Amino acid sequence: MSKQPIKKKKDEVETTGHSWDGIEEYNNPMPRWWLWTFYACVIWGLAYTVAYPAWPLVNSATAGLLGKSTRADVAAEITRFEEANAGIQQKLVDAELTEIAADAELNSYAQNAGAAVFRTWCAQCHGAGAQGAQAAGYPSLLDDSWLWGGTIDEIHTTITYGIRYDDDSRFGDMLAFGRDELLSDEEINQVVAYVQKISGQEHDSALAEAGQVLYVDNCESCHMEDGTGEISLGAPNLTDAIWLYGGDAETLYETIWGGRAGVMPPRGGAPAAVVDEAMIRAVATYVHSLGGGVASE
Ligand code: HEC
Ligand code: HEC
Repeated sequence: MSKQPIKKKKDEVETTGHSWDGIEEYNNPMPRWWLWTFYACVIWGLAYTVAYPAWPLVNSATAGLLGKSTRADVAAEITRFEEANAGIQQKLVDAELTEIAADAELNSYAQNAGAAVFRTWCAQCHGAGAQGAQAAGYPSLLDDSWLWGGTIDEIHTTITYGIRYDDDSRFGDMLAFGRDELLSDEEINQVVAYVQKISGQEHDSALAEAGQVLYVDNCESCHMEDGTGEISLGAPNLTDAIWLYGGDAETLYETIWGGRAGVMPPRGGAPAAVVDEAMIRAVATYVHSLGGGVASE
């Protein structure tokens, strides 16, 4: 005998008609509040895609009726800051380079902007703290040993034109005495000993003595009689034990045999539209203040 389905009362909800061993499933409608929320979400979603950028196209997306654009927002923010800074930037450009540091407001702006430029455009070669890179050839900007000069004007010129780039304001190479057969191997070893002597290192005195004669003939014109270098030629001081490439016999041999010609792009490679005159002045002020800055006469 089949079981009788349980009788429902009139006001009871309907079932789905499924029955498992007499257990039935109610067919409750979705709660009203839920349904209305769902419809509201659908309508809101559709309205949103019409009002705001939403549907991806091949190269862009639908713009939306409200014309909202986060890119335009950023551009507007940038313009707002540029306008706010325009006055002080103009002041920076108009000021004498030597007077920037003395003007508290100008100096504070230049230091901050200069440090930001340095982190973005200079740190990869000169180190985050301007201490110079691990790799040889990238000088520290903290010490007072300068290849091209440490006054604010000289630093400004270096940053503006770069070094051994496509301008002739910072030119002049260390000659390749070995490769170009100006000196023999033996002579190079003699001059290496002499450079070791004037930089206060251990050296072979007999070699150094012979090297001195060669130095006078071949090196003095750029590194000067006493070996302290010449800033107008970018020829480093060989007596201060601060080395761009290295002071050990092997590196000295390499330097004298093959020559050297370190290159720095103008503005550290930054486009002129990004690092303009105001920013060059800012980063020059920053570098000049780092410890090695030389006072102008
Ligand atoms: C691509 C690497 C590179 C970048 C980027 C770079 N520099 Fe240089 N910089 C060099 C090299 C290499 C030298 C040394 C050139 C030489 O041997 O004469 C140098 C030299 C200098 C000097 C001269 C140092 C002296 O002793 O006279 C200054 C000042 C300087 N850089 C500042 C900057 C500033 C400021 C920036 C950022 C705007 C910058 N550099 C970005 C590679 C770089
Ligand atoms: C025409 C000028 C010129 C002459 C001549 C010259 N040098 Fe140089 N020398 C330079 C320049 C410029 C540099 C720096 C190169 C650079 O920054 O990449 C340099 C760099 C050096 C360095 C590297 C120093 C360091 O800090 O690592 C040594 C060492 C050196 N020269 C030794 C000599 C000796 C020795 C002679 C003679 C045999 C000589 N130079 C002749 C211009 C010259």
